[in-house]
Amino acid sequence: MGAAAKMRSMSEPVPPQDPEPQRRRRPRYKGTHPRRFEEKYKELDPARYPELVEHVRSRGQTPAGQHVPILVDEALAVLEVQRALRGVDCTFGFGGHSERFLRALPVAGELLALDVDPLQLPRTEARLRALGFAEPRLRVRRTNFAALGSVLHEVGWSDGVDFVFADLGVSSMQIDDPARGFTFKQDGPLDMRMNPSRGLSAAQWLERANEAQLAAVLVENSDEPHAERVARALTLRRGHVATTLALAEAVRAALPPRLEADEAERSVRRVFQALRIEVNDEFGVLDALLRQLPDVLRSGGRAALLTFHSGEDRRVKKAFERGLAEGRYAAICDEVARPSPEERRANPRAAPAKLRWARRA
Ligand SMILES: C[S@@+](CC[C@H](N)C(=O)[O-])C[C@H]1O[C@@H](n2cnc3c(N)ncnc32)[C@H](O)[C@@H]1O
Repeated sequence: MGAAAKMRSMSEPVPPQDPEPQRRRRPRYKGTHPRRFEEKYKELDPARYPELVEHVRSRGQTPAGQHVPILVDEALAVLEVQRALRGVDCTFGFGGHSERFLRALPVAGELLALDVDPLQLPRTEARLRALGFAEPRLRVRRTNFAALGSVLHEVGWSDGVDFVFADLGVSSMQIDDPARGFTFKQDGPLDMRMNPSRGLSAAQWLERANEAQLAAVLVENSDEPHAERVARALTLRRGHVATTLALAEAVRAALPPRLEADEAERSVRRVFQALRIEVNDEFGVLDALLRQLPDVLRSGGRAALLTFHSGEDRRVKKAFERGLAEGRYAAICDEVARPSPEERRANPRAAPAKLRWARRA
């Protein structure tokens, strides 16, 4: 388990309602192309500017403040949502998958949606409530999916559910907002926590890690080939890497001088990914979810997980194979489902996605 994650409890209570937000003047920007996240105000108001959102999507981009759900039809099919009475979406995000699940469930079907992000979750809940999905059809809990078993107990579903879905990693809203510290395209505090009120930020983690720990995280979490050089350089600059652009610059400066620019950018991306995985303990919580799945699924119930890199996919594949060998799963997928060329063109962020499923014995 990562150092940051050890300091976090797995289940987090739903916070009190935010006070009524203050009305603010929308920010002005010069020119036709908004440059900063908060300046993309039109995309942030899709109900008023639907044609602009369509235009952004048609260029293969994700409108600000939204997330385009991936492999939705495939997930609906493998989970047999149209026959389910109780389902869980472990990663509510923008609610794209949840919305489609809710539309496909039978009349008596209910969905429990979880997310660890205290900033985005109330917005997504408000969005889906405004679409007409009330309790108990849709229940929402702010919690880590590592606590799935206890959340099901709390909502009275200890006897199991018909499906569990998880779309791993971070949402477009989290990546695109520089204030969350996930992107190296714009400057922001080096945070990277999906729940910024818990654990260590990436900057704090970097300040405490020694060179060997950092190198190990870069190798284990994202197979960074220049892990040792980068770890040495970042350790020497300890205390001076507090923003996303400072980290990206420090990584570039640490790389071998004759590296191609593309290869250097891939290293920067891998370093960001490795730190994000570490501060959110993404492998630890995924392992905890995978361990619980056979216990929370009813007989014949289905699980489907969307993964985005080999570290995640390996874990899901192994856990499903183990469950099949132990007779806890009756069937698992032979092959992963991947986004079609059309889906990848329409949403380039879908490109690395892999969907795996398992059916409870
Ligand atoms: C890829 S997005 C999901 C997008 C969603 N399927 C949609 O259609 O909008 C992943 C979401 O899962 C949340 N998340 C990631 N790890 C989590 C965990 N361990 N427990 C609960 N939520 C988590 C993130 O905060 C993020 O909102």
